[in-house]
Amino acid sequence: MKVSASFLSSKDLVRDLRCLNETDVDYIHVDIMDGKFVKNKTMPFREMRNIYKYTSKRLDVHLMVDDPISYIPLYAELNTEFITIHVEIDTDIEECLKMIHSYSIKTGLAIKPNTKVNELIPYLPFVDMILIMSVEPGCGGQSFIPETKEKIAEVRDLLAVYQSKALISVDGGINNLTCSNCGKADILVAGSYIINSDNFQEKITSLR
Ligand code: DX5
Ligand code: ZN
Repeated sequence: MKVSASFLSSKDLVRDLRCLNETDVDYIHVDIMDGKFVKNKTMPFREMRNIYKYTSKRLDVHLMVDDPISYIPLYAELNTEFITIHVEIDTDIEECLKMIHSYSIKTGLAIKPNTKVNELIPYLPFVDMILIMSVEPGCGGQSFIPETKEKIAEVRDLLAVYQSKALISVDGGINNLTCSNCGKADILVAGSYIINSDNFQEKITSLR
C-alpha cells in the first residue's frame, strides 16, 4: 500500500515537511481549497510553491476548487506526480484532465461521499487515479465514513468493467484502524494521524 501524507493539519509546516522527507512516505498530499468549492481557503500559490525547499518527495495535489483551469499550470510547475480535480465541479472536466496530461502529469478524479460512482464513467478514459473521499472535503481531523468500504469495492468493480487501470486512493480519517476498510485501495492519504504524532515513520508503516 502506498501512503500519501497530507499536511493540512500541520501547525509547523517547515518542521513537518522536513520530518516527512526523512520517512519512506510515497507522496506529499497537497490540499488546495478556494473558499468556494469548500468553505476553507488555503495559502496562495506564491507561498505554497516554497514547499520544494523542504521536500524532495513527489506531490499529490488535491484541488478542492471550483475552477481548476487557473490552478493546473501553477501546480504543474512543481515536483508533481498527480493533480486531482473533483467530479462535482461545474466545469469542463475532460478539458481539465487533458490539460493536466498536457504537462505529463497523472490525472486524478475525486468523488465526495454522497456522489454516485456512475458520475465517474464518462471520464474513465482520461483518469489515472480515482480519489475516494472518506470524509466531506474541507478540513482535516474528521472521522472516516464507514460506507467508504462499499464505495471502494464499487469503484474497483467499475474500473474492471470499463477496463481502466486507474489507481484508487482514499482520503480522510485514515488511521491504523480505519485503514482495514481500504484493502482494495492502492494509496491511502493520511493527515492528522501522521502529523499529530511524534513518530511519523511508525504511523506511515502501520498503514502499509
Ligand atoms: C480533507 C482533505 C484531506 C485531509 C486528510 O478535505 O482532502 O486530505 O487533509 O486529513 P485527515 O487524515 O486528518 O482526515
Ligand atoms: Zn485531500
